[in-house]
Amino acid sequence: MRIIKAKNYDDMSRKAANIFFSQIIEKPDSVLGLATGSSVLGLYENLIKFYNAGDLDFSGINTVNLDEYVGLSCNNDQSYRYYMDNNLFKHINIKPENTNLPDGLAKDISAECARYNSLIEGFGGADIQLLGLGLNGHVGFNEPDDIFVKETHVVDLDESTIKANSRFFASESDVPKQAVTMGIKNIMQAKKVVLCVSGVKKAKILREVLYGDVTPQVPGSILQFHPDLIVVADEEAII
Ligand code: GLP
Repeated sequence: MRIIKAKNYDDMSRKAANIFFSQIIEKPDSVLGLATGSSVLGLYENLIKFYNAGDLDFSGINTVNLDEYVGLSCNNDQSYRYYMDNNLFKHINIKPENTNLPDGLAKDISAECARYNSLIEGFGGADIQLLGLGLNGHVGFNEPDDIFVKETHVVDLDESTIKANSRFFASESDVPKQAVTMGIKNIMQAKKVVLCVSGVKKAKILREVLYGDVTPQVPGSILQFHPDLIVVADEEAII
């Protein structure tokens, strides 16, 4: 595990974006595992800057996102498809057909999980997987549980996650109760993992994730076993 300490959110975003920059330069046909949430927004802004400066070419890139809410259409501004399109994809020269997220509106949601799982398997996992960290230690939407669920699956969101994510919705009751998420094996299969963590609110859980027991009650703790984990965290998040 390598820990890169950043001064603040902007510094974290630049440092993490530089890791993605070298990945794309070194392997222009990389499979990028992507995440949503506020922690990774600054990284995407930096990737767009690199693209606008003519320094990055996304035409050979494929992406697989971690998760999607069940029941939200791609036109809903809280869906993760909408987030990715508007915060990254439509600003760079990635081929839309090369961008992948679970379909939260699929009629047969377990078939959709199987499809998404095979897609990741077909890529042999991501070359690099970006992660944020939930306040309860979740990665993707792998919530605290008695077991680590390996494959892509439907998850009932924790009350604490619904509360935390309600800041993006008009009201708490608008937050979907379920999501489709990559499983722990899908995430651990990535050749490199970059975990971005910012702010004092995440300090306690980050410490548990990195130095506590490896347990499905703290899903991110499994990352201690990843052979190439880079944590990019700002000063407030590191105690
Ligand atoms: C969300 C997402 C995660 C994200 C996490 C942290 O629920 N499913 O993929 O990493 O919570 O979000 P944020 O970066 O906004 O704190």
